[in-house]
Amino acid sequence: MLELLGVEKTFGAVRAVDGLSLTIRRGEVFGLLGKNGAGKTTTIKLLTLQLKPTAGQILFDGRPIPGNEIFIKSLLGVVPQHLNFDQDLTVEENLELHARLHRLPKLERRERIDELLKFVELEKVRLSFVRELSGGMKRRLLIVRALIHRPQILFLDEPTVALDPQVRRKIWELITDLKTQGITIVLTTHYIEEAEALCDRVAILNRGRLAALDTTENLCAGHSLEETFIALTK
Ligand SMILES: Nc1ncnc2c1ncn2[C@@H]1O[C@H](COP(=O)(O)OP(=O)(O)O)[C@@H](O)[C@H]1O
Ligand SMILES: [Mg+2]
Repeated sequence: MLELLGVEKTFGAVRAVDGLSLTIRRGEVFGLLGKNGAGKTTTIKLLTLQLKPTAGQILFDGRPIPGNEIFIKSLLGVVPQHLNFDQDLTVEENLELHARLHRLPKLERRERIDELLKFVELEKVRLSFVRELSGGMKRRLLIVRALIHRPQILFLDEPTVALDPQVRRKIWELITDLKTQGITIVLTTHYIEEAEALCDRVAILNRGRLAALDTTENLCAGHSLEETFIALTK
């Protein structure tokens, strides 16, 4: 469904992504695992059309990005690494704003917002300001905001950073639920246990390069994923 061919992104002298070639399959949970600075966020930004590659090609169902931007954007949901809500709006207003940006008709907006708030158990805080929510609630809101327009592929950049273990488990359950709904999921993490718990396949990135790509079982074969990760990202 998603193909990267020799994708490269440089910022001045920094090669954030250095010749990345890989394929992400429909319906899988695909993990980008790497240390801080490995190029995970830059890769996500390239795949979600927030940055343009310096070289290489990205194809969605065989279509290159240039010339197909509007269509491709309609397929994507993006959960950024950093919270970017308007904290002075309510939960409902934030979702409403996003739904309008995606041009959902009024009736459908209301139904979709009801459904999503129920899905992440945020109905009770519907009228609260975002700034009043706990960290875990904000994360859940960030995820459903990205689902408003029923994307086919959801990108999550470090979805559980700085969350306590209970809240992390909740987010993991949410991601697993989304997979069963048939959504393709691409997530980044620097937590090995997160990749092991959620991903069908994992790409290990090291300094912008692909160090390994396989199923979590194969990457763990003979040793732990942690050992493989440490060996490949020295
Ligand atoms: N806008 C930018 N300008 C300059 N350098 C950047 C920019 N964005 C990322 N980088 C650099 O690219 C490298 C990869 O960063 P990033 O993709 O954020 O890594 P990760 O998400 O894996 O921590 C880092 O060395 C980072 O400093
Ligand atoms: Mg990052």
